[in-house]
Amino acid sequence: MDANDALRRYLEQRRELGESELVLDSLSVEEAMKLLGAATGGSKKSAKAPTSTDWRAAVRAAGGAPEARPSLGTSVPPEVLEEVPTLAPRAAAVPATAVHVPSTQTPSAPMVALKDVPTGLIVSGASRALADDIAAKLASIEEIAATVAKCTRCPLYATAKNPVPGTGNPNADFMIVGEAPGANEDEQGVPFVGQAGQLLTKIIGAINLTRDDVFIVNVLKHRPPGNRNPLPEEVQACSPYLVRQIELIRPKVILALGTFAAQTLLETKNTIGKLRGQIHRYYGVPLIVTYHPAALLRNPAWKRPTWEDVQLARRILDQ
Ligand code: URA
Repeated sequence: MDANDALRRYLEQRRELGESELVLDSLSVEEAMKLLGAATGGSKKSAKAPTSTDWRAAVRAAGGAPEARPSLGTSVPPEVLEEVPTLAPRAAAVPATAVHVPSTQTPSAPMVALKDVPTGLIVSGASRALADDIAAKLASIEEIAATVAKCTRCPLYATAKNPVPGTGNPNADFMIVGEAPGANEDEQGVPFVGQAGQLLTKIIGAINLTRDDVFIVNVLKHRPPGNRNPLPEEVQACSPYLVRQIELIRPKVILALGTFAAQTLLETKNTIGKLRGQIHRYYGVPLIVTYHPAALLRNPAWKRPTWEDVQLARRILDQ
């Protein structure tokens, strides 16, 4: 595959992700045109066809700097998510009082002082709207699990083998929200135990936490047949459990994994490319969006942004 093919495949992936715009950091329009083989405004001369198999090398050959995207300043490569499940000393990696919020849409986004991000739960109108739901009266994480085990609010209980209410430390400061159980999770009744789950365990380890330190849940507590996408009515039926879990656990930070969890929690249709790199709030709790580990297995290039996202979440946890 030559550089043009590699670039085309990359752009196709971004488009499949729902991104409609792409910022090529540090690359002028002229340089981008040159890279794509178009005549330049100045000389009308076509650029030499790139010969490298790496599109980034082709961009660099055209005078761009494709890896110059603003980052949180870590010197640790995302490959660490595969190999070394520990983080380099944070003091060296991230400034103490502020983090830069990277975004493909706003490369010059302002610095956000983490001390300004509220912690704990702010009960909003939406939360009170759930007060009549039976889930709002459940007094503990165990009670939620017991209620989920008997739940018939949507038809998924009939096809699932086991309920998957959530796992981890009920006093966790760090909560992770995925989409829905898959086949392995359905077998075991525990979230994120398959291949994606193993990668998630490494991601958690990469910020010096273990699965016992965090609480892991899904938006849906029963597996959709054949891993199909959750339906809106299933999400609506199951959401009170998630809200109550968050109310009881009162995490300092929530990490939403993947488009579905992020769009559901934030009630938005924005793409993950737009949602990641910012501090959102869910019922007042800071919420960071990152790629789903299953997506990382398909596309290892997303490990670097994921690395930055989880570091940001870790920084919030530490404040
Ligand atoms: N994917 C999810 O979103 N959740 C799981 O528990 C497993 C895979």
